[in-house]
Amino acid sequence: MNNSNLRPRLRLLATGGTIAGAQTSGDGRGYTAGAFSIADLVAAVPQIAALAELTVEQVARIGSQDMNEGVWRQLAGRAQAALDDPGIAGVVITHGTDTMEETGYFLNLVLKTAKPVVLVGAMRPATAISADGPMNLYNAVAVAAAPESAGRGVLVVANDEIHFAREVAKTNTTQVGTFKSPNRGLAGLIHSGRLHYFGPTVRRHTAASEFAPLAAGGLPRVDIVYAHAGMGRELIDAAVSAGARGVVIAGVGDGNMPAAALAACTAAARAGVAVVRSSRTGGGLVERNIEVDDDAAGFVSAEELNPQKARVLLMLGLGRTREAGALQELFRVY
Ligand code: SIN
Repeated sequence: MNNSNLRPRLRLLATGGTIAGAQTSGDGRGYTAGAFSIADLVAAVPQIAALAELTVEQVARIGSQDMNEGVWRQLAGRAQAALDDPGIAGVVITHGTDTMEETGYFLNLVLKTAKPVVLVGAMRPATAISADGPMNLYNAVAVAAAPESAGRGVLVVANDEIHFAREVAKTNTTQVGTFKSPNRGLAGLIHSGRLHYFGPTVRRHTAASEFAPLAAGGLPRVDIVYAHAGMGRELIDAAVSAGARGVVIAGVGDGNMPAAALAACTAAARAGVAVVRSSRTGGGLVERNIEVDDDAAGFVSAEELNPQKARVLLMLGLGRTREAGALQELFRVY
């Protein structure tokens, strides 16, 4: 058997982002996301060939600010097809960092697999001084190629860290250490391709999840409304008028909001719109019935999920139930 037969076969799905970005100005600040193809990115890191045999596919070529349900469906479909192939050991997805946590959590809920699935991006474009993409890509391939990565749900690799997609959040606009997992911490560390896992994820995911990748019909509209001092009810009413089936409140503190907004949410819940209270703080969890009477109002608390992840779970959850108690149970399980 020659060496290439010993390497795991991985599928690399590319969607664009800064990892594939090219600078457009001499000062190094301006750049276009997704300018390089996945073949260019892999060619820039020849050391990857020692880790795995890659087959690559360009699914999209966008900045992740333009990530949407259509691309999610396409990506989930291509990832699932690769994962169902007995010859493929795992999947790596290149993705912009801006919405990586949402795509990662979506895939964590819908892919049916125990094989490793790893999202990777970069904060500096491929042409920048000290670009972080090449090492991030190398590490992501090492994580996806490692048998000990199996069964951990979807992972995010950046800056020598391994995060669970459920836990990770982008916390800084430009720095390479932007990803943090504020509540439960890291899945592990990776240094030049050597992995160190700290523990398993505790919430249900992938093969054990009840959500299907390509459920019939589109996902329902769910809007996020950001709370602030002096907030009125107008944006909540506007979301309902625009057809939202669910509203996630990025609440102040423990998922709170001013009285006018609370009245609008209560009216929305009575009208059959799912209302989920999350927090704009970036850490901690929103519990039920602390300052807000969730039982009386028919609200759901997001527990540990930040607003953008609560939106993902609510969109999927509304495909199964519209009942507040059953939705709350989903937030306990996932
Ligand atoms: C994006 O999310 O596509 C742009 C930012 C990045 O990838 O870091």
